[in-house]
Amino acid sequence: MNIQSIKPSEKGLEVFWDDSDKSCFPWFWLRDHSESGVDLHPDTLQRQIDSFSAPLDNTVSKVWLDDGMENVYIKWQDDSSSLLSTSLLERMSKPALPQLSTIDSAELWNSADKINLFPEMQYEQLMDDENGISLWLEHVKRAGFILVRSSPATAEATKKLMERISYLRNSIFGEFSVWDNKKINPDDTAYTSEEIELHTDSTYVHDAPGLQTLHCLQKDSRGGENQLVDGMAIAELMRREFPQAFNILCKVQVPGRYIRPDAYLETHRPVFRVNNDGEIIQVSFNNHDRAPFRLEHDEMESFYEAYGIFHRLAHDKERHFEFLLEPGNILTFDNWRLLHGRSALTGYRQLCGGYHNREDFESLIRLS
Ligand SMILES: [Fe+2]
Repeated sequence: MNIQSIKPSEKGLEVFWDDSDKSCFPWFWLRDHSESGVDLHPDTLQRQIDSFSAPLDNTVSKVWLDDGMENVYIKWQDDSSSLLSTSLLERMSKPALPQLSTIDSAELWNSADKINLFPEMQYEQLMDDENGISLWLEHVKRAGFILVRSSPATAEATKKLMERISYLRNSIFGEFSVWDNKKINPDDTAYTSEEIELHTDSTYVHDAPGLQTLHCLQKDSRGGENQLVDGMAIAELMRREFPQAFNILCKVQVPGRYIRPDAYLETHRPVFRVNNDGEIIQVSFNNHDRAPFRLEHDEMESFYEAYGIFHRLAHDKERHFEFLLEPGNILTFDNWRLLHGRSALTGYRQLCGGYHNREDFESLIRLS
């Protein structure tokens, strides 16, 4: 979209676009969003103009568009000036509430055979190739997970892979953990041999990790199959087939908690977090970590019914991608989209892994 012409009016600057649309930018907004080297730091892109300490005289002396139609210049009565690029004006042409966005290229799957292209790549390709990260990212965006194969079966190689993606996120379990299923006095079922129901991690922290990475370093065990299920696909199915239950899971704030002698973490989130357009941004579900809460009788009943539908759909084996974590295969998945679980096991298994923040995952997407 290009600017065809501009026209100052009392309310603001009217911009006429070549698709016959029109925007009217308020004068104060234009001054506040000026991108001149004085108003916006040229290196850090941080706002320098102080729009609020002293009243600004936003009377316009002159406004014009440069010959290349790339920037709009405004000269104000108080002798200061503003510059706004046409690309910023184009991006802001329609007023909209700021909101989190969904991942455009996500291909939701309701069973493993619906995953079009299996998301896998070689360790060396990710670590050494120039486009290794973009390929890795394409898979995670599309399928919600990736298996990186032929990695050395060491904690160091796993950490190196994670650092290739972004810095690691610290958590109550530390920045990067190596654990096995023989821990004495375990403080999480992850450190046991018990079955772990399908869940998302960290329903008890305000911003659950965006990505989780797991690598099995040693395995002398039977069972312990891992399951992944696309929670966002279930949400979309419920929106279509169980609209009432879907709405309940969008509204009811479900508390999650994690308790051990030195920590008591708790927060709450709906199972389906949606943006202003009703798009699903995040799925949060952890029945193990659900904290006690009680609603009015009817609401509680409706909640249990809706939560039960999600639980049933998530635990339907037809919907699962089931596999065994093997030494050398590093799994990373989108913890805002996929649920993960594990069958009970016997024998010994050692794992390692950690988290990345959601914003760092999104940053990679923006830069790709
Ligand atoms: Fe988990």
